Amino acid sequence: MKKTLLTLTALALLTGSAEARTWEEIKRSGTIKIATEGAFPPFNMIKGKQLTGFEVDLAKELATQLGLKVQWVTQPFDNLLIGLNQDRYDFVIASHGITPERAKAVNFANPHYCTGGAIVTRPGGPMTAAALKGKKVAVQVGTTYLENVRKVPGVGDVKTFPKDTDAQAALMAGRVDAWVGDKFTGIDLVKAQKGKVIQGDMLFKESIAMAVKKGNSGLLKELNAALAKALTNGSYAKISSQYFGQDVRCK
Ligand code: ARG
Repeated sequence: MKKTLLTLTALALLTGSAEARTWEEIKRSGTIKIATEGAFPPFNMIKGKQLTGFEVDLAKELATQLGLKVQWVTQPFDNLLIGLNQDRYDFVIASHGITPERAKAVNFANPHYCTGGAIVTRPGGPMTAAALKGKKVAVQVGTTYLENVRKVPGVGDVKTFPKDTDAQAALMAGRVDAWVGDKFTGIDLVKAQKGKVIQGDMLFKESIAMAVKKGNSGLLKELNAALAKALTNGSYAKISSQYFGQDVRCK
């Protein structure tokens, strides 16, 4: 994690000369290039051959409001902000929590949902931060889960996986004592696995936002305006209830 963050910060400084597409350029082209992971259900995932999820539908709604077509790019989670700073796409929507480290490398939009990192374990397993002492925990690499689990005093082995779903699979297979991931993802996992796993405490809270290349203020302004509109015109509420049965906006 430390290494990734340093790399991100270094990239922000080194790639200062490369120019991200401005809002005017994007508007003129008629298409906005959006990057996500496509492996983080129910936020962004591939179903059949279709990229879908709460964030995919929300981003499509924002693009429609901005009068743009969408071109999607999928990347491993850990590469997303690096690719952004290499001008490979216009913005990223992939459940990034706003952190001071990341904010050194990119600019975040206003949050599009609020959530937290929560423990999921098998019955009888660790349910609290204190209970993680000496325990093996699975998390996705490059995430705030990793950062926060590492801070738990006395935590045992922290195993990282390229994909969050692989970290969940490690818990199901009994290779770790707990998985720490998104609160809403955890609720879905518990439902899908019917009694085989249970959700424990939330370790930390976070606000999730889209990211643009540092300094791309024109695009940031447009995204924030489109998001504000979606939050008030009912479209956000509709998409949110479709995926979560509730409104997940920050309150
Ligand atoms: N919210 C967590 C973070 O900010 C996890 C995000 C993971 N996103 C993904 N597309 N896998 O690090």
